[in-house]
Amino acid sequence: MEMGASVNGSNSSVRILVVDDEELVRDFLREALTRRSYHVDIAEDGKHAKNILKEETYDLILTDLKMPGVTGLDLLRFLKAHQPETQSIMMTAYGSIENAVEAMRLGAFDYVTKPFTSGEIELIIDKALEHKRLINENRYLRNELSDKYGFSSIIGQSKAMQEVFDLLKMVTPNHTTVLIEGESGTGKELVARAIHYNSPRKDKPFIKINCASLPEGLIESELFGHEKGAYTHAFARARGKFEQADGGTILFDEISEMASGLQAKLLRVLQEREFERIGGSETIQVDIRVIATTNRNLEEEVEKGRFRKDLYYRLNVINVHLPPLHRRREDIPLLAHHFLERYSKEYSKQVTSISEEAMSYLLRCDWPGNVRELANRIERSVVLCRNCAIEPCDLLMGNRSQSGAVEDIPQIPGTSLRDFEKWIIVKTLNSQKSNRTKTAKLLDISIRTLRNKIKEYRDNDGDEIN
Ligand SMILES: Nc1ncnc2c1ncn2[C@@H]1O[C@H](COP(=O)(O)OP(=O)(O)OP(=O)(O)O)[C@@H](O)[C@H]1O
Ligand SMILES: [Mg+2]
Repeated sequence: MEMGASVNGSNSSVRILVVDDEELVRDFLREALTRRSYHVDIAEDGKHAKNILKEETYDLILTDLKMPGVTGLDLLRFLKAHQPETQSIMMTAYGSIENAVEAMRLGAFDYVTKPFTSGEIELIIDKALEHKRLINENRYLRNELSDKYGFSSIIGQSKAMQEVFDLLKMVTPNHTTVLIEGESGTGKELVARAIHYNSPRKDKPFIKINCASLPEGLIESELFGHEKGAYTHAFARARGKFEQADGGTILFDEISEMASGLQAKLLRVLQEREFERIGGSETIQVDIRVIATTNRNLEEEVEKGRFRKDLYYRLNVINVHLPPLHRRREDIPLLAHHFLERYSKEYSKQVTSISEEAMSYLLRCDWPGNVRELANRIERSVVLCRNCAIEPCDLLMGNRSQSGAVEDIPQIPGTSLRDFEKWIIVKTLNSQKSNRTKTAKLLDISIRTLRNKIKEYRDNDGDEIN
């Protein structure tokens, strides 16, 4: 297939500037590129090109290297300063390779030696445009990521959370090590990502290491990489996570679970920011920010001899403590509405509110699984909800008990008021570990009424309820 024949329908939106003082080259390129439907502008020398570039923007510029006055290299410098997103390809005469190297250093995508065929130049143009497309896509994805992981994605107006935000604002811009403590589901990972995506490192990698899931041997090679032949299956050199995270942030998730041998090795990386690959002797330096999370009290782990004290001090430079949800109940309505909006959109359902009764139920729950549990509960309710407001029955329906079994939900319609009442009483008693005072309080009835009901269930149904 002739290269020039592969006209892409979208080529007409691609703008290319050709700069060359030789008329023959200009005509050749104008013809070849117009044939592929690109929008082509022509400049006869560097000065002319500069004037055009002050007014117009291009996806790509193809410039000759040697031109009187403003040279190709001068143009690249100008581009770098004024239109860094424009890709460039340098055209050189045979023998000026050093300049081509300099061109690449100045950010040119590639160079091509004259004379060249239309097929050759088209191939390079395709690659340069593809490169530009990838850069744009990458930038778009990164912007999406920083929206997703911006501080605004962390919901909370309680005093406890305001204190967390104040601390985060102070620590985010620099490269301090941060230890995030909090029960499961309190948002530790969310906070770690927000720190990274709001820091100057946001365009560099964010790498998460799950310390609990990998056996010691494996995690070591994951982290440090290895040299070829370091062990039986090491067929080639592999870069570890530390190297991959260079310039960015590395998150040690559930750090308390890290094996003690590895804790010692991590200590050195934290102190020196250097290490060797497994089976290697070359010392590798890295620039990484370290964040660690734990749902155990790390200080206690140190006291019990399960976590190295020196490592704890290294990690605990800044300590962010995320409070459990039951300690900041005032955030529950905000969070519940946040998840309501998210999941109604996700499941294309018109569920727009939470009834007062349902909200008062949410406010009373203990949420041992914290925000994650609340999010799951709202998600399920949105899926099950038949109206536009979530009611208590939507919250209770399909609720999984701790054993994982679906609870014996009364059928509605199909259950008598008496049986429904009995069901609520039994559930509440169970949840309060049979404490009748607490149960009566939650149900907003007197202890005497509760006692009478329990007696009635025993007398009439033969159900012994404790
Ligand atoms: N303040 C918050 N605002 C919005 N969403 C939150 C908040 N806190 C947690 N979440 C959401 O709850 C879920 C659990 O959060 P995350 O994974 O960060 O918790 P974690 O503390 O790392 O839990 P674990 O210890 O179990 O790993 C995620 O979907 C997260 O987006
Ligand atoms: Mg987590």
